[in-house]
Amino acid sequence: MNDHAATGAAVDDSTVVLGIETSCDETAVACVRGGREVLSSVVSSQVDLHARYGGVVPEIASRAHNELIIPVLARAMLEAGLDGEDVDAVAATTGPGLIGALLVGVSAAKALALAWDVPFVSVNHLEAHLYAGFLEDPDLQFPMVVLLVSGGHTLLVHVTDHGRYRLLGQTLDDAAGEAFDKVARFLGLGYPGGPAIDSVAMSGDPEAIRFPRSMIDDGLDLSFSGLKTAVVNHVRANPQVATEDVAASFQQAVVDVLVAKARRAAESTGAVALALGGGVAANSLLREQFLGACAEDGLHAFLPSRELCTDNAAMIASTGWYRLRRDGATPLDCGADPNERLAPSS
Ligand code: KG4
Ligand code: ZN
Repeated sequence: MNDHAATGAAVDDSTVVLGIETSCDETAVACVRGGREVLSSVVSSQVDLHARYGGVVPEIASRAHNELIIPVLARAMLEAGLDGEDVDAVAATTGPGLIGALLVGVSAAKALALAWDVPFVSVNHLEAHLYAGFLEDPDLQFPMVVLLVSGGHTLLVHVTDHGRYRLLGQTLDDAAGEAFDKVARFLGLGYPGGPAIDSVAMSGDPEAIRFPRSMIDDGLDLSFSGLKTAVVNHVRANPQVATEDVAASFQQAVVDVLVAKARRAAESTGAVALALGGGVAANSLLREQFLGACAEDGLHAFLPSRELCTDNAAMIASTGWYRLRRDGATPLDCGADPNERLAPSS
């Protein structure tokens, strides 16, 4: 298959794409065949390196990617049982993300594409989060609405076909994951905050404190900074309050808003399916309420497994396969763009 892909021939079920993800603090490489079949997916998290700073330090992230990229690549090839000649294209995240971090993955991908004489494919990180839901569920249905909730973004996207996106709404201030991280930090629960709040909230009462549901009845944009301030004010005024109750009540407020907005977006666009993507989609309460809402509204639910919600390279390789089939190879003079948008139409 290698020779065909290099000359721009058919991209089909046998086409193997190697994907590389280094946009933030995960160094990840995966091999995916035919856009769907994950042959290997290796993720090396730098979370321990950044934890003591309470967030990702860009320079530390770039250096760590530099050290990790070759061992992670070697492991992904080994686990997939592939040699260079078995790979038909190399895809990498070109943005959005941290510029120094992105450049490590993009440079590695271009070098491999040159060495193996196969196409290089640029992948948008947000588009890849959208595609994560389809990796495990072949029953693609359009039009659909995707709720993309990560550490840097909170978007509602109308998807009418592969590569056809319209932005319906987004956060006006903090991303949902950012709110989880900031509130967890304030509560002394550590970094990253999302998983910490998720687990502490299990033993709390979600109705203990009625935190605001900002803009819940108001259009498709979202806002989380008022909620974060409300949590801080409540804890300062009630220092004895149980952390579990604060975590559970905060989480409930975020999830109520996210689910209400996603349902409204699906209803207003006539979507037949709803998909969740991004790191916050790993949240237990959000997953449960998202599935409940889809069942009630008769919508097909795309819910990636937790490993595919957070940053990984399987979603990059899969999106690379669809992009290669749709648009062909990306020229090697393409750079990395820390602010890359989802698509021209967004
Ligand atoms: O998509 P992602 O891995 O990286 C970005 O592209 O941003 O998302 C990371 C975000 C972090 O803010 C993290 O706290 C949040 O996803 N997150 C969660 C959970 N797991 C990760 N938030 C809530 N509950 C979780 N279980
Ligand atoms: Zn991400």
